[in-house]
Amino acid sequence: MSDHIVFFSKSDIPQSWQTAFAKVRPGARFEVLSGAVTGPCDADFAVVWHPPHGELARMTKLKAIFSLGAGVDHVLGDPEFPSHVPLSRVVDPTLTAGMSEYVVLQVLALHRGLPGYIAAQRRGLWRPSAPKLARDVRVGIMGMGVLGRDAARKLAPFGYRLSGWSRSGFEEAGVECHRGADGLKAILRSTDILVCLLPLTAETRGILNRETLALLPAGAAILNAGRGAHIVDADLLAALDARHVSAAALDVFAEEPLPAPHRYWSHPGVIVTPHVASLTNADAVAARMSASMDRVNAGLPPFDLVDPARGY
Ligand SMILES: NC(=O)c1ccc[n+]([C@@H]2O[C@H](COP(=O)([O-])OP(=O)(O)OC[C@H]3O[C@@H](n4cnc5c(N)ncnc54)[C@H](OP(=O)(O)O)[C@@H]3O)[C@@H](O)[C@H]2O)c1
Repeated sequence: MSDHIVFFSKSDIPQSWQTAFAKVRPGARFEVLSGAVTGPCDADFAVVWHPPHGELARMTKLKAIFSLGAGVDHVLGDPEFPSHVPLSRVVDPTLTAGMSEYVVLQVLALHRGLPGYIAAQRRGLWRPSAPKLARDVRVGIMGMGVLGRDAARKLAPFGYRLSGWSRSGFEEAGVECHRGADGLKAILRSTDILVCLLPLTAETRGILNRETLALLPAGAAILNAGRGAHIVDADLLAALDARHVSAAALDVFAEEPLPAPHRYWSHPGVIVTPHVASLTNADAVAARMSASMDRVNAGLPPFDLVDPARGY
């Protein structure tokens, strides 16, 4: 096990990953990159989050690339991405559980009108309103993959009326299935709280825009924990200002950190969280990456393989 692993991330603590890999892959050389590779790089494996464009292509001996998150838009967006190298993403029970906690938290907050009560508190206003019963609230989940399906299972015990949307369709007990372009219209028209857990691809970029938001019933709320670029921000702000969308819980943004003057920061209908819906656990995930590296060294594909052509 004398693999050479290079690590690049400005959002993760390299020491945590170095320690985690030292436990599961003690013979490996773990190199933390802080910027561009200046000379030749003979790395076997790259473990990365938002690597600078062109860097992966310069590592000509790579046997596999590992995304430090479930999403891979941060690598596939690189015009020089070496698509012949297998790309693996994070699929991990701790990540899934964290996301479902976040979805349950925010669906309950949106259902019970928390953004409105926080705004009223700031103005010293006592303004009670009777909440709907959960069984009368329709929650629609865009993206019924690993995270969307688990979120649906965790929301089910509250009694919400659940539906989901995916590309190819799915079977999930108690969740109405929608798929494809017609399915998108149908789910939007019948959703009170829309949860976005899609990957960011050419097809899903800007999917929540003036046209699609208009299909939501008046007063619907939005939860986005997919990627910021799923939303056309100006269109969501216009829908919030017109009260067509009553509130939005947003964890991800087209530009992160969310810039200081952005209206999301101060809009009374918006809850901002700083891309923390679910974080990758180094110990749990390094063990799976190491098992994948063994597979690659044995001529097999890594676990949790991404299809670059599909974009997720
Ligand atoms: N905020 C955070 O902290 C955080 C943390 C982790 C992940 N995320 C985001 O969550 C995303 C989803 O993760 P995951 O593990 O659940 O991914 P996944 O297992 O790959 O599931 C993706 C789902 O989206 C559906 N989908 C993709 N393209 C579509 C399209 N054009 N039309 C309709 N449905 C489409 C897929 O449909 P099929 O089932 O038909 O393929 C699948 O159901 C990640 O890509 C990442 O962006 C955010």
